[in-house]
Amino acid sequence: METYLEKINETRKNRDLSVSDVVSIDDLSKKDIDLILDLAKFFKETGNKKYSLLQDATIFNAFFEDSTRTRSSFELAGKKLGADVINISGGNTSVKKRETLLDTAEVLNSMRPEVVVIRTSKSGVPYTIAKHIKAAVINAGDGCHEHPSQGLLDALTIKEAFGRVQGLNVLVTGDILHSRVFGSLARIILKMGANLKIAAPYTLIPRGIKKVFKLEIFNNIEKALTNTDVVYALRVQEERGSNCFIPTLREFSKTFGISEARFRLANKNAILMHPGPLMRDIEVHSALVGKSESKYFNQVENGLAVRSALLYLLARPIKTNNKINNLV
Ligand code: NCD
Repeated sequence: METYLEKINETRKNRDLSVSDVVSIDDLSKKDIDLILDLAKFFKETGNKKYSLLQDATIFNAFFEDSTRTRSSFELAGKKLGADVINISGGNTSVKKRETLLDTAEVLNSMRPEVVVIRTSKSGVPYTIAKHIKAAVINAGDGCHEHPSQGLLDALTIKEAFGRVQGLNVLVTGDILHSRVFGSLARIILKMGANLKIAAPYTLIPRGIKKVFKLEIFNNIEKALTNTDVVYALRVQEERGSNCFIPTLREFSKTFGISEARFRLANKNAILMHPGPLMRDIEVHSALVGKSESKYFNQVENGLAVRSALLYLLARPIKTNNKINNLV
């Protein structure tokens, strides 16, 4: 009988990531994305069972910001793969005692982990840490910049629904200005050949966005929804001050919230996505959440699969890990 390891090696086909950290979708090649999504599909199809693929590996989950799904799925993924997983919450670390984040990262690195997963409110910090420590770094969300594992699980969800990402019309609505989810989603779907449009109050759209991403901007949600395959609603991020960019949440919901009537303006087989946590009846009307067109909970399931793939690939590179050699 074929063993799990043989099956996984067959899926992996001797492929390795071209990077030793996953900080931004910009750093991933199309081949890297294919490899991560292929392995994620494998983990999902085999039921994300408990295997000893990462026995002897150590993973630190250092979360300096709140999280439910990202943190628990990284923890579960690491444990399912057999690694020792240690969770660190911002409020309980020495950063509170004025140790620098970089020193804290060096401290964690001294315990020789294979992977450090980091979430921080400061854009760019995971990149700096990745340059300084030997362990592989995964950015689990940095400020308003990127959240690459979310982008990857979103791409997997879209691919599962349509069999492709190429050529689809994707509409992102809501708080683009403060969204790291948007940062990774836009990068990955454009890389995979989708067409991107956004609809939001102008105050929630970063100036110069068209210089960074190839996209169309709409101020009217009804017009934007026409000819759309994927409707992706973002959370209004009150903790980042979104409230001073809109009159009220109620007003936002009335002008940009996705109601059943509005969702029907999209294509017949359109899907609805949201990264969570979702504010029911603000970004998406409650009645839509449990519908089969809504992929809200599928996204969470795919998060576990994608994070399993990322941890496995980064902790067990087939070829020599350049990062480790360079830094010794
Ligand atoms: C997001 C985050 O925290 O970046 N959630 C998530 O990880 N699924 C989005 C958000 O908080 O709005």
